[in-house]
Amino acid sequence: MEDFPDQDWSEYEADDERPEIEKHEKLINKSLDKFDQDSSKYHWMKEKKYASMFSAIEHKLTGVLGRGQYDWVDRRVFDQVFDQSTLMSVFKLMQQGHIDTIEWPIARGKEAHVFFAKSQSGPIAVKIFHTSNAVFKGLMQYIEGDPRFGGLRRRHRELVNVWVQKEHRNLMRMRKNGVRVPESLITRNNVLVMEYLGDKNGPSPRLRDVKVDDPQKLFKELLRQLRMIWQDAGLAHADFSDYNIMIHKGEAWIIDAGQSVTQHHPKAKEFLVRDVTRLCQWAQRNGVEADLAEATLFVIEE
Ligand SMILES: Nc1ncnc2c1ncn2[C@@H]1O[C@H](COP(=O)(O)OP(=O)(O)OP(=O)(O)O)[C@@H](O)[C@H]1O
Ligand SMILES: [Mg+2]
Repeated sequence: MEDFPDQDWSEYEADDERPEIEKHEKLINKSLDKFDQDSSKYHWMKEKKYASMFSAIEHKLTGVLGRGQYDWVDRRVFDQVFDQSTLMSVFKLMQQGHIDTIEWPIARGKEAHVFFAKSQSGPIAVKIFHTSNAVFKGLMQYIEGDPRFGGLRRRHRELVNVWVQKEHRNLMRMRKNGVRVPESLITRNNVLVMEYLGDKNGPSPRLRDVKVDDPQKLFKELLRQLRMIWQDAGLAHADFSDYNIMIHKGEAWIIDAGQSVTQHHPKAKEFLVRDVTRLCQWAQRNGVEADLAEATLFVIEE
């Protein structure tokens, strides 16, 4: 970990009492093999270009490799996330000073991993999208090697890159229009760097994981956010749920905007109604009398 004189990291240093998740992961790890650079999957890493790139940033990836103070990190994380192009993208982002070190994984989804990382200006969240997902891999075995459909892997990667661009632009557009979303800082291929929502002990909780003191007030506030997304940003979030809202410093933050679409999208209104419906359902579960028609009107009425 490098020192930056301007940044006080004490708030982000790990406690003696590590979060529960780390203890749990330690147990899992005991039964896992050490990350093995000789495994056939990583033959590409022996190529001079990648080998030197990897050795140049290896010490900044300990939180991904499950080494040193991060030996509790499940080493499969590296397997799931890093391939040639991802290594290159991360290398470039580090070279350009957007990322200093990648520390521990915050979340592992089917489509992406989110990491806690550090940059010269403070903590950041790095979302790394998987370049090959399980569905794609399953289909590949029937298509790869068929000369009529060459370059599929590349095309799949390009699609992932477009998705990442879309999330970046959606987040910027929402933020510019007053919606409370993390600031999206930069992307490179399948890697997105954004503002970190959390503290030293981990990310802030999702709405799903907390008990809200005043659900009525939060319902109103989230309706206002939905209204801003639709009216000011001209978008439908399209995956609005208590999974994709984080409670950070007492406020609700909306995340995960890759699927968000502009109002021109043929299904934009359908997505909008689904978002409002989900919010009303959340409110009703929390004892708020939420009326779907009224709520929808509030969001769409100019
Ligand atoms: N900026 C951030 N700061 C801190 N934690 C974050 C941030 N963005 C996302 N996370 C955490 O990572 C998780 C997954 O992020 P996100 O919803 O954007 O990805 P996803 O691709 O939808 O993954 P999933 O399929 O698991 O929902 C979130 O639920 C949240 O806990
Ligand atoms: Mg999500």
